[in-house]
Amino acid sequence: MAKPLRSTQASSLSGMVKVPGDKSISHRALMFGAMALGETVVEGLLEGEDVLCTAAAMRALGAEVVREEGAEGRWRLWGRGVGGLSEPAGVLDMGNSGTAARLLMGLVSSHPFTSFFTGDASLCSRPMKRVAEPLSRMGAQFVTRSGGRLPLAVMGTASPLPITYELPVASAQVKSAILLAGLNTPGETTVIEPHPTRDHSETMLRHFGAEVAVEHLANGGRSITVKGFPELKGRDVKVPADPSSAAFPAVAALLVPGSRITLQNVGTNPLRFGVFETLKEMGADIQVVNPRVEGGEPVADIIVAYSELTGIDVPEDRAPSMIDEYPVLAVAAAFAKGTTRMFGLSELRVKESDRLAATARGLAACGVSVEEEGDTLIVHGTGKAPRGGATIAVNLDHRIAMAFLVLGMGAEEAVTVDDAAAIETSFPGFADLMNGLGAKIGAGQ
Ligand code: S3P
Repeated sequence: MAKPLRSTQASSLSGMVKVPGDKSISHRALMFGAMALGETVVEGLLEGEDVLCTAAAMRALGAEVVREEGAEGRWRLWGRGVGGLSEPAGVLDMGNSGTAARLLMGLVSSHPFTSFFTGDASLCSRPMKRVAEPLSRMGAQFVTRSGGRLPLAVMGTASPLPITYELPVASAQVKSAILLAGLNTPGETTVIEPHPTRDHSETMLRHFGAEVAVEHLANGGRSITVKGFPELKGRDVKVPADPSSAAFPAVAALLVPGSRITLQNVGTNPLRFGVFETLKEMGADIQVVNPRVEGGEPVADIIVAYSELTGIDVPEDRAPSMIDEYPVLAVAAAFAKGTTRMFGLSELRVKESDRLAATARGLAACGVSVEEEGDTLIVHGTGKAPRGGATIAVNLDHRIAMAFLVLGMGAEEAVTVDDAAAIETSFPGFADLMNGLGAKIGAGQ
């Protein structure tokens, strides 16, 4: 049953909120805890559907994974040690999550058993060759549906080979899949990334006791090497609030006149923070206060106030640091004065949906002048609230749903999303949290 939601113009947003835990870090905390010996305690885990799929998969692979009753986001794990995972009895259903599917494909590739992966219609349409190809070089074998898609089987190898692999696309998921396979592989496994991508795997692997060497290359890229067979030990992990989720209330506050909100304990890793830098360049009043480091990750509180924005050019090399934030940035651009051109967005075509097309289509339906030119998205803002008044097809894409509900908060006419259920994958309680700040989101028809 579809769950439509409708967002009507809000008068102003105010208050202090903590958005849910970081999705990328939550997946990794469960995976690494499952490979460590001893107890891992995770605090602030995102209890969204994507991460719950990873929790179920780690159980199916033999780890003990327990949610502490009455303590939201507090989970305990007892891992199996590197190389200690066991063959899952059933199919691993990764739901909507590309991160869960790709990282786990890497992890099981260097284990001597066969695993079967599936997912929802969105995930089953996404390319998996990008991980299957390098993992095959390490010795794993894959049987996939046409186009290298899920459902697929991974026949892990008992004698994996270390590789050095240069990423053809900037992808933290592909990088992490190879590094995770490299844990149960002799020698050194190296990934070279021409453009730095989120480094949560590297940071957290070190936290659990792995040896990870990172070399900064002259061309701006990085070379990351993991040494095989580390002894990972159970650790405490504190998960910061997700900057990708924080971007939705932040943009909403920028668009709705009179707004001022504080977002608490948000991850500020520079490889994730591109959208906030970009919004500041557009003239946004964003203050990053109380900076601190928790569990190896930088966090801060972010104060955002209504601002008159100006269109800018967003260069291609910034894309990896804000890859999930383009739909909501494009919404901000629709309210800005002047043209915003966002370059180098080819990866948006293979996210939970073709986000480049979905964003352009949705903005046009809301009366915004928008162009999609190859991998560039061009939004012509007038400095005034767009008309809105459209129903947006979500196509199982949580970020498309949230971005257009944010547009509705500032638009002249209400915006409806045809099925908001996908929001549960990354931001449970989104509508309630936004309504608590002053948004008007309710059941749509
Ligand atoms: C993620 C990496 C990104 C991002 C995804 C989460 C991760 O994907 O879009 O939401 O946790 O590693 P790619 O690495 O494929 O760009």
